[in-house]
Amino acid sequence: MQITLLAAVSLDGFIANDMGQGNFSSPEDKAHLRFFLRSTACDCFICGRKTAREFQSKLSFKPLLTFTRTPQPPQANRMDFTNWEDLNRLLLLKGLNAPALLGGAETYAYFLENKLVDRVILTTENLRFYRGKSLDFQRFQSGFTLEKTDHLSDRTFVSYYQKKNPTRPARGTSQDGRSPHATGYA
Ligand SMILES: NC(=O)c1ccc[n+]([C@@H]2O[C@H](COP(=O)([O-])OP(=O)(O)OC[C@H]3O[C@@H](n4cnc5c(N)ncnc54)[C@H](OP(=O)(O)O)[C@@H]3O)[C@@H](O)[C@H]2O)c1
Repeated sequence: MQITLLAAVSLDGFIANDMGQGNFSSPEDKAHLRFFLRSTACDCFICGRKTAREFQSKLSFKPLLTFTRTPQPPQANRMDFTNWEDLNRLLLLKGLNAPALLGGAETYAYFLENKLVDRVILTTENLRFYRGKSLDFQRFQSGFTLEKTDHLSDRTFVSYYQKKNPTRPARGTSQDGRSPHATGYA
């Protein structure tokens, strides 16, 4: 199992401006994200309910696991979950082991605070919002090793982080091995 957090941030660390606009990344980043999401390094998407609502039409080609306090019955590729135990059950049931965690802010915070993120692929765009929704990755950065940085253009770079200590909170399962697919990217 490897959960990969993917996010685009402004230079000052925001994933959306104060108008709630979070779809600001460059064409280079969008192409990079599309490639990752279609690759074998990703077998499903995890989104908060608000992000799922915003991007659902672009996330129809793999299972979409949606974080919510009020789960609805499964519909098309969407399945809801309310906490980690619930999600873990779903992942095991469906044989999924390489989720891409796609935000937004509340959902990133839940996964980072509960130490559920194995890898971070963070795109930084050369702009500042000054206010907005923050990823606040700096608070968790000491738990990760920066493996490499790629420049996608003169205004966009991508940083790849791997969790230092791969242990997770107990999941009540022995099927928590790393995905052979999840190492095939970056
Ligand atoms: N730049 C980027 O990379 C990027 C990526 C993704 C999103 N975004 C931006 O981020 C913004 C959305 O972020 P957001 O933080 O407002 O929303 P979000 O994380 O997408 O979704 C929030 C929802 O998640 C559920 N949730 C949160 N904490 C929970 C908990 N402890 N237990 C159960 N469910 C929980 C709740 O759903 P219910 O209300 O249904 O209970 C909550 O309303 C948008 O502006 C979007 O454009 C940016």
